Amino acid sequence: MPATQHYRDGQRPTLTQFLIEQRRRYPGASGDFNALMLDVALACKTIARAVARGELAYAPGAGSGVGTSTDQVNVQGEVQKKLDILSNDIFIRMTEWAGHLAGQASEEMDEHRAIPDGLPRGKYLLVFDPLDGSSNIDVNVSVGSIFSVLRAPQEAIDSGRPLTDADFLQPGSSQVAAGYALYGPTTMLVISVGNGVHGFTLDHDVGEFMLTHPALQVPPDTQEFAINASNSRFWEPPIKRFVDECMAGQTGPRGKDFNMRWIASMVAEAHRILMRGGVFMYPRDLKDPAKPGRLRLLYEANPIGFLMEQAGGRASTGRQAMLGVVPTSLHQRIGLIFGSKNEVERIERYHREPQEQPDTEPLFAVRGLFRD
Ligand code: F6P
Ligand code: MN
Repeated sequence: MPATQHYRDGQRPTLTQFLIEQRRRYPGASGDFNALMLDVALACKTIARAVARGELAYAPGAGSGVGTSTDQVNVQGEVQKKLDILSNDIFIRMTEWAGHLAGQASEEMDEHRAIPDGLPRGKYLLVFDPLDGSSNIDVNVSVGSIFSVLRAPQEAIDSGRPLTDADFLQPGSSQVAAGYALYGPTTMLVISVGNGVHGFTLDHDVGEFMLTHPALQVPPDTQEFAINASNSRFWEPPIKRFVDECMAGQTGPRGKDFNMRWIASMVAEAHRILMRGGVFMYPRDLKDPAKPGRLRLLYEANPIGFLMEQAGGRASTGRQAMLGVVPTSLHQRIGLIFGSKNEVERIERYHREPQEQPDTEPLFAVRGLFRD
């Protein structure tokens, strides 16, 4: 059944209407999930406003501005910006009160957060990166929020026992829903509740997200890739091979020219790829053996991976499907490759054939930009 079946012709459904239509597929659904999604949407609208106010939200004076760092460092050793903390607080405040959640976990909190005593406890877990790409905030480049919804273990719901971090360590294939908000020239919310990927644009006049991009599909092939090339000396051979082959362009083994992009806001890169295809790589590399990748599994790689797969794309560590990885810790880092299916599968193939010599022209094999 198409999601828009019951809407009038020419009418754009709101997020609320869309969720109600989706819920009709599950006659037994309680409505908790939809209410949670609307709370998440409200948190994103509130963060969008804070982001859009920019410097105006602060009194004039040195060091008071939007991009300023706090003196706090998160569990990953990254300096927290004021807006990181504010966005985290907004997510917590707007989603914990209603009785839909059993707990929350976020990039900005060392451990999971239980629902405070006195508030009702529900069956879902919410995992989020409240402000992805926040190192871009002071240069006015798009940032976003990423979220993932899991079910709390049934036995924890039934017994009411306190949650542990381990309850959150579920593979991405268990996600009930995932999505992101993008705070760009327009504010968008892009979600999947397991039935395709749908994009909504915030209509500021009525304060509603309107369905503007139904049933997004990532094209299987692309001529665009995204990677932080300053790390090239740390890349493993399969990644070097892939990038070298792209750089070799029309006269190289791929037989076509590629374009490169790097925004350094993963959520913005994911959005570009959902709109027009492409491949994003923040692979495991040899920079710091203690860090198997840069991005985090539970609240970055898994939700974006869920959206990619739901849109016909693919997400991988390079060695296995991202959604099959069983997490071992809340803030686990992982190599992340996602986007157009044929490109991601090609990179996986290069990982399986590490010994095979690249199929490149000698010129590029010897003097390739990113080759040792
Ligand atoms: O949250 C991490 C993040 O900001 C991503 O949004 C982005 O892709 C990445 O870090 C950028 O990393 P780098 O600074 O290495 O380019
Ligand atoms: Mn992030």
